[in-house]
Amino acid sequence: MAASGLLGDVTTTAPGGAGHDGVRIRPAERADLLAVARIERESFTQPWPFQAFEGFLGQAGFLVAEAGTGVAGYVVADTVPQGGRRVGHVKDIAVHPDWRGRGLGTRLLDRALGVLEARGVDMAKLEVRQSNETAIELYRRFGFEPRHLVTEYYADGEAAAVLAVELDERWRPFG
Ligand SMILES: CC(C)(COP(=O)(O)OP(=O)(O)OC[C@H]1O[C@@H](n2cnc3c(N)ncnc32)[C@H](O)[C@@H]1OP(=O)(O)O)[C@@H](O)C(=O)NCCC(=O)NCCS
Repeated sequence: MAASGLLGDVTTTAPGGAGHDGVRIRPAERADLLAVARIERESFTQPWPFQAFEGFLGQAGFLVAEAGTGVAGYVVADTVPQGGRRVGHVKDIAVHPDWRGRGLGTRLLDRALGVLEARGVDMAKLEVRQSNETAIELYRRFGFEPRHLVTEYYADGEAAAVLAVELDERWRPFG
């Protein structure tokens, strides 16, 4: 249970359990993949194909937010080598448009970073479109800071901002 009122009622939600809104964060299953891919297509101009999600099945960092009506969002995170060590990498996160702004992105990211911590990494990074202010604000709240830009990272020519956070300094919305 989080102490602060930063997220209103959402702070009463245990990260793993169902919240007051009936949403539960749990590992992704095969039966979730169609819904995940549909949310992906609604969220990105260059969506991951179905098979990309299939490849992450069974990995602890592939989580979905399950609402009574079905999958409402997901996150994919794993670890990657960087400079002789392994770091966490948040590869994808999206919430169904109808569910945005209700704290699910926060819960998904918090759980994904928890999975990375359990894997023993001390830093997490991600790439985000420079223009994606909503996502950048979400990441900023968790303590992610800009490290560098990768020009023309996306197929349409937009640059990616690479953000990173030291996990022992990250924001813990649920205490
Ligand atoms: C980014 C995304 C996952 C956030 O999910 P969400 O469930 O809406 O996030 P939350 O409700 O937990 O909001 C967390 C914070 O994000 C920011 N945020 C959320 N919606 C916002 C909006 N419309 N405008 C500005 N900031 C916003 C706020 O800081 C918010 O905190 P607050 O509600 O206390 O102000 C969601 O907007 C999304 O799926 N976007 C499309 C896919 C995408 O861009 N993914 C990121 C790729 S790098």
